[in-house]
Amino acid sequence: MTATDTAKPQIITGKAKLAGVLGWPVAHSRSPVLHNYWLRRYGVDGAYVPLPVEPDAFVAAVLGLQAAGFRGANVTIPHKEAAFKIADVLDHSAQRAGAVNTLVFEDDGKIHGYSTDGAGFVASMEAAGLNPPKQAQALLLGAGGAARSVAAALQDCGLRVAVTNRTQGRAEELAKALPGLDVVPWNAWEQRLGTFSLLVNTTSLGMEGGPDAAFRPSLAHAGKELVVADIVYVPRITPLLAEAQSAGLHTLGGLGMLLHQARLGFQKWYGVNPEVDAATEAFVQESF
Ligand SMILES: NC(=O)c1ccc[n+]([C@@H]2O[C@H](COP(=O)([O-])OP(=O)(O)OC[C@H]3O[C@@H](n4cnc5c(N)ncnc54)[C@H](OP(=O)(O)O)[C@@H]3O)[C@@H](O)[C@H]2O)c1
Repeated sequence: MTATDTAKPQIITGKAKLAGVLGWPVAHSRSPVLHNYWLRRYGVDGAYVPLPVEPDAFVAAVLGLQAAGFRGANVTIPHKEAAFKIADVLDHSAQRAGAVNTLVFEDDGKIHGYSTDGAGFVASMEAAGLNPPKQAQALLLGAGGAARSVAAALQDCGLRVAVTNRTQGRAEELAKALPGLDVVPWNAWEQRLGTFSLLVNTTSLGMEGGPDAAFRPSLAHAGKELVVADIVYVPRITPLLAEAQSAGLHTLGGLGMLLHQARLGFQKWYGVNPEVDAATEAFVQESF
């Protein structure tokens, strides 16, 4: 970001375009920082606000925002499945993810739902110049909501995808939802790493304040070309990424996914296709 961008005031007139993020809790969300940065940068008359909404109040809140003239909203934990249910129209990404993180209130009164997490991950890989070949095999650690959207997006790019999860039943459920997905036992993935060209951590392991912030698995069996990605973005370099870097492997952190997943909503609500560049990344990074 340039000094000119930081100096630009936000424009919020009586015609301002409004959106926000629904979550419970929502205080940790970086989306308000990001969207308001873009609003200032592109001189859009608009605002983006955090919307702390308890699960029981989700439907009333969405309908209330729509009645109040909002353009739509992002949806974060724990509302992504409720958002899937409330949408009148689900695009391909939402159907594949079984969840919605972006709601758009269209002029005809219909609520459209999208899941942009998986596409955000793929876009962040592409932006980093890490395009795995189509026949590549990816291994995902985790079988939660983020895993499903990333797995679906990678499959849609033509990759063969496997998942491994502490709770094996959850990985098997995921394999039922996404045909073609392989399941690797949690206690065997480190030994089988040599068959994969992309490893993605989609668990909360390695996250500051998460279940095990020190999570640093062995990459001793990795091939030389393995790309190691972590969708955790606090800290920026997780212990897994540090291990990969010390082994001389290509790595990708989770901040790019966070920034890229936000683009579709911004474009739909505010009418500008925002750029994810070093300035955007630096601005959001400063908020941590
Ligand atoms: N970069 C981004 O834009 C972005 C977007 C979405 C999410 N994320 C991050 O992705 C992570 C997962 O999010 P989510 O929504 O998918 O959460 P989720 O649905 O709650 O899934 C959590 C996953 O972590 C695993 N896990 C938790 N504690 C574990 C432990 N002690 N040992 C082994 N596995 C453990 C769970 O395994 P079990 O099934 O065995 O419990 C599950 O696979 C979070 O850190 C979130 O911040 C990042």
